[in-house]
Amino acid sequence: MQYDLFGLQQAMSKVQTEKRFYHTLGVQTTSFSMALKHGADEEKALIAGLLHDSAKCLTNEVLLSECRQYGINISKTEEKSPYLLHGKLGAYYAESKYGILDKEIQSAISFHTTGKPDMTLLEKIVFTADYIEPSRSSDRIPNLHEIRTLAFNNLDLAVYQILENTINYLKNLQLEVDTTTVDAYEYYKSIIR
Ligand SMILES: [Fe+2]
Ligand SMILES: [Fe+2]
Repeated sequence: MQYDLFGLQQAMSKVQTEKRFYHTLGVQTTSFSMALKHGADEEKALIAGLLHDSAKCLTNEVLLSECRQYGINISKTEEKSPYLLHGKLGAYYAESKYGILDKEIQSAISFHTTGKPDMTLLEKIVFTADYIEPSRSSDRIPNLHEIRTLAFNNLDLAVYQILENTINYLKNLQLEVDTTTVDAYEYYKSIIR
């Protein structure tokens, strides 16, 4: 392993709440398992899963000011829903704070919240692992078991189901849906048929 897994885990435990860190470890191991199943690089999946929420426990104000400071582009939707920025900022932190120079890992972190059309295998794995990891509850996600099964057997369909759930969830709460998520949904809808 070329990465200091234990050191990075310790670093995450210091910047996250206990509950968020528990979720992080779930995403880490789920990404690892999915990479083994789908033939992705399991070490990259492990590190991307571990670092995906490194910027999650920041306030909206800090997310916005950090992105402005580091020249990270902020869309209209992100301005209204700054939590979306934790993906992009997390990718930036992966390199600047945690020394992860790998662009594939950074991209998987960057797009884990919104998804995007035509994702790489690693991007799809982290996006899906984030949604299905063990601490997610079927009380909140009725078709969770189905998506967990699809994640190992039909990854594109799993991604499609997650995007559909996410869009419905946001619409029910009358929250804005990021255009990248809508584009991703349309893309996966077109390829699963
Ligand atoms: Fe996240
Ligand atoms: Fe997450």
